[in-house]
Amino acid sequence: MSQATAIKLDSDIKTQQRLMVEEDCRQQIAFTSSHTQDYLEPVLAMSRQRLRDNARRFKAAMPRVRTHFAVKANPDPEILQIFKQEGTCFEVASIAEIDAMLELAVDMETVFYSNPIKSPASIAHAARAGMLWYSVDTPEEVTKIAAIKPDAKLYLRIEVSNEGSNWPLAGKFGASPSGVEMVIETAKSLNMQICGVTFHVGSQCSNINNWVEGIKAAKALFAKLADHGFVPELLNMGGGYPLQFSGDEPSIEEIGAEINKALESIPEHIQVMAEPGRFLVGSAGCLLTQVVGVATRDDVRWVYLDTGFYGGLLEISGEFPVNLISERTGEPATWTMAGPTCDSIDVMGRHKLPDNTQAEDFIYMPNLGAYCTTCACDFNGFPAPVLRMVD
Ligand SMILES: Cc1ncc(COP(=O)(O)O)c(C=O)c1O
Repeated sequence: MSQATAIKLDSDIKTQQRLMVEEDCRQQIAFTSSHTQDYLEPVLAMSRQRLRDNARRFKAAMPRVRTHFAVKANPDPEILQIFKQEGTCFEVASIAEIDAMLELAVDMETVFYSNPIKSPASIAHAARAGMLWYSVDTPEEVTKIAAIKPDAKLYLRIEVSNEGSNWPLAGKFGASPSGVEMVIETAKSLNMQICGVTFHVGSQCSNINNWVEGIKAAKALFAKLADHGFVPELLNMGGGYPLQFSGDEPSIEEIGAEINKALESIPEHIQVMAEPGRFLVGSAGCLLTQVVGVATRDDVRWVYLDTGFYGGLLEISGEFPVNLISERTGEPATWTMAGPTCDSIDVMGRHKLPDNTQAEDFIYMPNLGAYCTTCACDFNGFPAPVLRMVD
């Protein structure tokens, strides 16, 4: 195939993917639009069927990989119940998330505690609840767990590239090569078992290479762990699997194809898991919000919504992708978008909305099922979006 033909095929695929994103947004709006009637506050409409579809699609893309839903992405009890019915396992980060698992009556030995820094009280709570697996990335954490849960199975979180992720997590967590040595030495001295390796490529990650390199690094670390007398049995590939906001992001099938290939080098006896959060819930949720008012300040046109930084749109205030769809048609114009509170942090950058946007227009934001309601508060008396399940 000539280079020109290959480029043409590539651009055809991208056009197709963009059309699919548009169609997907239309579908999300369709299951949300009935909430404009009797509208009182922002609504996150969440499709039960899409939650199921997402869980099945993730599994189909990576058959060897056990899915553990990252509860933080959306801990709504009905969502957790749906994933349980789909055979999904779970990953937690706090006492409240552990309690949600007890409430859900799952086998607690299948629940993974992947927050690398845990309070002593939360480790004790997890141990009492029957949890076995705990992530570590520092010697201090190994020491803390050793004092409370000496028979814990530890999995070591290593640093990997977060390049190409819209919400990087590197820096705060992940042991460097010298950090790995220290964790190993501490575990040996305390007779603690390091049974696995984990990494996180950053949330909403479009760079497949991060997972491939993470798998290679984990494989190398398995050999090192074995040299130190540990028996590795787990590879945990964390989260980061992206949603389609523009169609330029790789699909879960494209990511899966590369991960599956890389996993061929990982011995059969190693159990492989992933902790998708955003991918499983994101495209199941569409936010319905309303314009509070518009304003022109010198040459800048502002649009104020009834929800913002405090009301679940924290991510959008950075460089995070978003699909904004107004019920109004009109020439697209650039607006500075803000939330309703009196705080100057409550501004979400410049976006395209119709030129004739007015107070009380409804704006739809598809793909907001993750990290929206769960990060929202009612600061200043403006209600956080309410979650409404739809079929
Ligand atoms: C340890 C861990 N696992 C999984 C996730 C889920 O990531 P995502 O929602 O990007 O899939 C996170 C997110 O912060 C995390 O910290």
